[in-house]
Amino acid sequence: MALIRFDIMTLFPELCDTVLSESIIGRARAAGIVEVFCHNIRDYSKDKFRRVDDTPYGGGKGMLMKPDVVCDCFDAITAGAETKPHTIYLSPKGKRFDQARAKELSEKERIVLLCGHYEGIDQRAIDEIVDEEISIGDYVLTGGEIPATILVDAISRLVPGVLADPECHEKESFGDGLLEYPQYTRPYEFRGVKVPDVLISGHHLNIDAWRREEALRLTREKRPDLLDGSEKG
Ligand SMILES: C[S@@+](CC[C@H](N)C(=O)[O-])C[C@H]1O[C@@H](n2cnc3c(N)ncnc32)[C@H](O)[C@@H]1O
Repeated sequence: MALIRFDIMTLFPELCDTVLSESIIGRARAAGIVEVFCHNIRDYSKDKFRRVDDTPYGGGKGMLMKPDVVCDCFDAITAGAETKPHTIYLSPKGKRFDQARAKELSEKERIVLLCGHYEGIDQRAIDEIVDEEISIGDYVLTGGEIPATILVDAISRLVPGVLADPECHEKESFGDGLLEYPQYTRPYEFRGVKVPDVLISGHHLNIDAWRREEALRLTREKRPDLLDGSEKG
């Protein structure tokens, strides 16, 4: 049985499925560690033209996704579930997504991701089915599909067995609250620049100390907001 299951509710299931079929996440799906089901909300339209949106009450530009179609889709995909799966609406009004939230969500067994389009979704559908709203940043996209695939990727790689080396993400940016130190591979010299001596010294304590210093330096330089007072230097 998979360790985590995602159900993405979207008007563009192929878009999400394609993005999530490649590389590490694609392999985790093929291995059955992660399950991703992409559901087309349009399939639940009762309209003969398969419409899913309508104009907003009170006037204003754009179209809104209708509550009945969204909730019918949700009811169908969660029918038979013992408990209501944790349901997230991808929205610029949501709380900003970060690594700490990705870690918490990686412990869930099942997550439903609701993608809006056009001007968004009728508030009654959100109130009815959504547990939390998550934003991927302070800008507005045309739809929730790219944010949904970002969440699936960031959460899945924290699920045991998805990354070959489970220590990988602990040493990455944000794993210990800092940005990752710079990394180098072969060749030893590239366009006149050599790999730092310490990395070829074989002295692991010195390497660890250098990496910690570099992580602190980079974090001070690029993201001082991540540091507490003692580390700001
Ligand atoms: C054009 S946006 C709607 C924006 C909405 N009218 C507002 O002003 O808050 C359409 C859909 O894209 C998704 N979306 C846009 N920006 C996003 C962001 N920063 N994070 C997560 N989802 C976003 C949401 O699902 C949203 O319903």
